[in-house]
Amino acid sequence: MTKKITFLGIETSCDETAAAIIRENDKDTADVLSNIVSSQISEHRKFGGVVPELAARAHLENIEYVIKAALKESKISLNKIDGIAATAGPGLIVCLTVGLNIGKSIAAFSKKPFVAVNHLEGHALSPGLEYNIQFPYLLLLISGGHSQFLIVKDINRYEQLGTTIDDALGEAFDKTAKMLDLGYPGGPSVEKASKLGDKNFFKLPEPIINKAGCNLSFAGLKTAVLRESKKINGNNELKFNLAASFQNTINKILYKKTSIAIEMFKKKINTSDINLVVAGGVAANISIRENLKKLSKEKGFKIVYPDIKFCGDNAAMIAWAGIQRFKKNLSNKIDIEAKSRWPLDKDAPFMKGPGLKL
Ligand SMILES: Nc1ncnc2c1ncn2[C@@H]1O[C@H](COP(=O)(O)OP(=O)(O)OP(=O)(O)O)[C@@H](O)[C@H]1O
Ligand SMILES: [Mg+2]
Repeated sequence: MTKKITFLGIETSCDETAAAIIRENDKDTADVLSNIVSSQISEHRKFGGVVPELAARAHLENIEYVIKAALKESKISLNKIDGIAATAGPGLIVCLTVGLNIGKSIAAFSKKPFVAVNHLEGHALSPGLEYNIQFPYLLLLISGGHSQFLIVKDINRYEQLGTTIDDALGEAFDKTAKMLDLGYPGGPSVEKASKLGDKNFFKLPEPIINKAGCNLSFAGLKTAVLRESKKINGNNELKFNLAASFQNTINKILYKKTSIAIEMFKKKINTSDINLVVAGGVAANISIRENLKKLSKEKGFKIVYPDIKFCGDNAAMIAWAGIQRFKKNLSNKIDIEAKSRWPLDKDAPFMKGPGLKL
């Protein structure tokens, strides 16, 4: 029997301070021995979004406690751990540095391997915590900073099929929540409000729906929500109708763009066993989950969603990505630095800014 690897994972790329202890199991998935997430929601609520300096200070205040809590809950002592993984990018450098530095320090003094994890690879591999999915698979990554279709060919091997040319989907949810005065964090509050409204009341745009392959765009939709929100004047029924219409428009966009991405995947990968993984914070949205489940039935592919607790930022997915990289000899030296930008497919074209041709 081969030894089962155990890792400590640390995540501080945005507004969650998180640590987890993960061990491989006999099913080739993970035993989550602990998964501690300290959210900074209350700190950022009054500003309606993440304030980098506040986030960095909160990470500094919380990180030691969170790591100790993860070790305590797992009932594993540090000397029984095989390695340490910490998020090294992409994200806010002031935030990333907190988790990365403490991870490197623990690795140095305990003389254990260290793995610097790309936060997006954490999301991409997160379903592996619970499910044994074979490579290659199609990934729809929808989060606070990213919205992309990628082929996950293997650990460390990604091909981008499409990406947002402007806002990320999580950002569109967060801005919509702000415009509708629904509170922070935006995604869950828009989802809740959308259940109370008429989804066909407002006709909202579906940007680049009939062009640019499976690339995505949400800026025009956000502007339309801003325009319509000015007509609401405190009328709750209209507010819920606008939230529902926004959610419905997102569903229509994702349905069409995902079906294009599936066709692109089929052309590139010769397999009848197609798996679509939907990961990232926005993948917690039940309406999006149900909507894409319908598409999977229509098109005959399998759809995999990580458990809701592994959709938003967490350190379990970072520890898991760390274990996978460690097993492929992709550990790092401890002089590695944080990176604010770190695409999974480094050859993908940069799809933002003036002069972009679609
Ligand atoms: N139920 C939901 N419906 C829609 N959006 C949601 C829901 N729950 C969370 N979100 C959104 O998910 C986003 C947070 O996801 P995540 O934590 O993965 O983002 P991030 O780590 O900040 O960005 P990235 O992973 O791109 O670096 C936020 O924009 C939040 O509003
Ligand atoms: Mg994230």
